[in-house]
Amino acid sequence: MLRADDNEILTRTGPGTLMGNLLRRYWTPACLSAEIPDPGGAPVRARLLGENLVAFRGTDGRIGLVQENCPHRGASLHFGRNEDAAIRCVYHGWAFDADGRCVDMPSEPVPFCEKVRMRAYPVRESGGIVWAYLGPRETMTPFRDFGTGGAGAEEFIAAKQHTTCNWVQSMEGNIDTAHVSHLHQFDQVDDIPDDGSDKPGYPSNAMSWKFWRHDRAPRLDIEDTWYGYRYAGIRTTPNGHTHVRVTAYALPYSTMVASIPFSAGHGMFVPIDDENCWRYILIPKARRNPRNLGGENLFAAAPFSTPITGRRDGVTPREYTAGNDYLIDRDYAAHGIFSGVRDFVSQDLMVTESMGPVYDRTQEHLGSTDKAISRMRHLLLSAAKGLAEGKEPPALAGDFTAIRGAEKILEPGEDWRGLGTDADPVVREAFGRE
Ligand code: FES
Ligand SMILES: [Fe+2]
Repeated sequence: MLRADDNEILTRTGPGTLMGNLLRRYWTPACLSAEIPDPGGAPVRARLLGENLVAFRGTDGRIGLVQENCPHRGASLHFGRNEDAAIRCVYHGWAFDADGRCVDMPSEPVPFCEKVRMRAYPVRESGGIVWAYLGPRETMTPFRDFGTGGAGAEEFIAAKQHTTCNWVQSMEGNIDTAHVSHLHQFDQVDDIPDDGSDKPGYPSNAMSWKFWRHDRAPRLDIEDTWYGYRYAGIRTTPNGHTHVRVTAYALPYSTMVASIPFSAGHGMFVPIDDENCWRYILIPKARRNPRNLGGENLFAAAPFSTPITGRRDGVTPREYTAGNDYLIDRDYAAHGIFSGVRDFVSQDLMVTESMGPVYDRTQEHLGSTDKAISRMRHLLLSAAKGLAEGKEPPALAGDFTAIRGAEKILEPGEDWRGLGTDADPVVREAFGRE
């Protein structure tokens, strides 16, 4: 459990809050490039950390991220006209450039443009995401390159999905290895043929379902790192081997979930406000798995729909919502789908959203499989409190492209800590470094 005051610090991200101040020190996804594809196209709302903002790609190609409400009398610039390298309010025609400068005031006999400035944030487009810095200009931190620097947007899957709960609550689901043995289970796992890969080395993705099902109470081992931590969820396989899922967490909002042989894709949990977040995915399209370890995609063996197997780039729609009880079907549950929900990610959304918009963590009872979640909370809380005491935020500099998840059955004596790192032979092979 968490003390009530710590729960408040952890979950509140508006201007002036401790966590809000911390998050504003990192470049943060504000919207997808795909939402504002064309110069001069329609602006989009981009509420972020409790601030109502609008993003637009000006006719000059520059992206603006500005306050939503016009500084004149507050009409929404979501309805503004994107023209003349500025966004023009349709109420009285005032226009503002990407820096928030008033560049036209046609309703005034004697314009006073120089007296009006609107809130505008610096942005940087990379990997199909428009990143923004919402912190004080004088403490602007370096852009953190998760592998998108110098690469084209077409080299990544960049997508986001709306979640109606607090960002930490949603993120806790992504770094919780124990739940794959329950929430995402289905009885037909028992019918998946044994292909002989339950032995030291890389098993098939299909067999992985079996391992999660076989050992439902994993042991967790955490290694602190410069960016946050990595941890292994350790399970014993039916043949008695040691199977590990290695998940990485990079402060403040990024997770790399385990996959075979290693994973470089990010799940990022970005607060819209304290009761809503975007669940961003940023995944390199190049598979970097020359020997096709793991074989067929994990979901080939499962009866679930997923945003990855279906729609890809852009804003992923929500079909399964609290309003329709996530289309839970008790017949599916009776016939093998543990959760009764057909869509994989919606299974996660059902459990995390149903905790309420901001869960009261004084009510919970944590066990040993919640260790990684506690660690994440602790790192976030120390960083937020530390910043208030003048300490620099963590995880600002380093090689962010070297952060990876991994999954494997260990060789006798093998240390999971090497898996997915630059020293791992499969990583070296995948990047042509052998
Ligand atoms: S409210 Fe925007 S120009 Fe008047
Ligand atoms: Fe999940």
